[in-house]
Amino acid sequence: MEKTLIINRDQCRQILTVQRCIPAMEKALKSVSRQQVKMLQRVMIGHDNGNSLAAMPASELSRDVTGAKLIIFPGPETAKAKTNQGIIPLFEISTGRLKAIVDAELITVIRTAATSARATKALAKADSSTVAILGSGKQGIAHAKTMIEVRPIKTVYFWDLYLQRARQACRQMSQLYPDVNFVCCETAKKAVENADIICTTTPGKTQEPVLKGRWVKAGAHINAVGACSANGRELDGELISKAKVFTDWNEAVMRDGGDILLSLKLGEIDTVPQLVQIGDVLNGTSGGRQNEEQITIFESVGISVEDIAAADMIYNRAKEKGIGTYLEI
Ligand SMILES: NC(=O)c1ccc[n+]([C@@H]2O[C@H](COP(=O)([O-])OP(=O)(O)OC[C@H]3O[C@@H](n4cnc5c(N)ncnc54)[C@H](O)[C@@H]3O)[C@@H](O)[C@H]2O)c1
Repeated sequence: MEKTLIINRDQCRQILTVQRCIPAMEKALKSVSRQQVKMLQRVMIGHDNGNSLAAMPASELSRDVTGAKLIIFPGPETAKAKTNQGIIPLFEISTGRLKAIVDAELITVIRTAATSARATKALAKADSSTVAILGSGKQGIAHAKTMIEVRPIKTVYFWDLYLQRARQACRQMSQLYPDVNFVCCETAKKAVENADIICTTTPGKTQEPVLKGRWVKAGAHINAVGACSANGRELDGELISKAKVFTDWNEAVMRDGGDILLSLKLGEIDTVPQLVQIGDVLNGTSGGRQNEEQITIFESVGISVEDIAAADMIYNRAKEKGIGTYLEI
């Protein structure tokens, strides 16, 4: 039997570009809506020090691949190391063969931003030229990069609870994109009020929204990325109630979409809005933005098929290019 290909973080970095990841995410999201994916919601084991083990399994039937992301969501001490230790084992469904084990950290960052980019391409106005990033960490920077890929972005506004992080993001991005204007903002309101696209990439673990509906201009598109549990949110109910809401997977958002669930629990909205899966829009079975004034939200909680699709894309390319190490497990 063929040995297992081990692909480490640096090797993933050589292969996993945003440009390659966006089409892989499009295919995965379309497969979700065509029901060509078997997928379970994330399960987690919490520990006293805050480190939680998360498992996210999915099978992509058309690719003959199954697997799971196993990753540590770090508690406060572990978070200081600024890495998320994780792996993705990939098996062939047809033979049961363990074909690869792929590092998961970079995949988590890039697949999330690539998914938002694909949603943005489908939903944001074509002439969107300004982006606001709330939360200037790993996801914030990755989202700024992917938004520049899919829309003619001239200005990016960064904000963070810790202003020095927004400043650092501006410095880092200015070197990479000298033609784009990067502005560090002292408040979230200042960052978003002129933005055509807003990405919320804060921890999203509290009831206090970082983004309020009254600050958002007509026609804006929002990628809501940070709040991935029912107990925390980034958006307020006013924003939810005046927008059209799209999701990565309705089932996961109904369990973990704190932006909606918490706003409902707090009485800021009366009912769950109609949720449209972005895969349906990409497949052409649902409509997207209805007019230039409409506010659109892509509610992303992060789903396992994105990880499996990204890991499988990396595996196929690594095999082709002779990257990685074969081991007998
Ligand atoms: N939807 C998905 O698929 C998906 C995938 C990966 C990560 N996430 C979520 O995205 C969020 C960001 O992840 P990351 O890897 O960029 O983390 P990170 O720690 O690198 O960045 C978070 C940033 O938010 C800032 N911040 C902290 N509290 C804040 C507050 N109250 N207001 C504003 N800014 C604040 C921090 O200073 C930091 O710069 C996390 O909640 C994570 O769970 C979602």
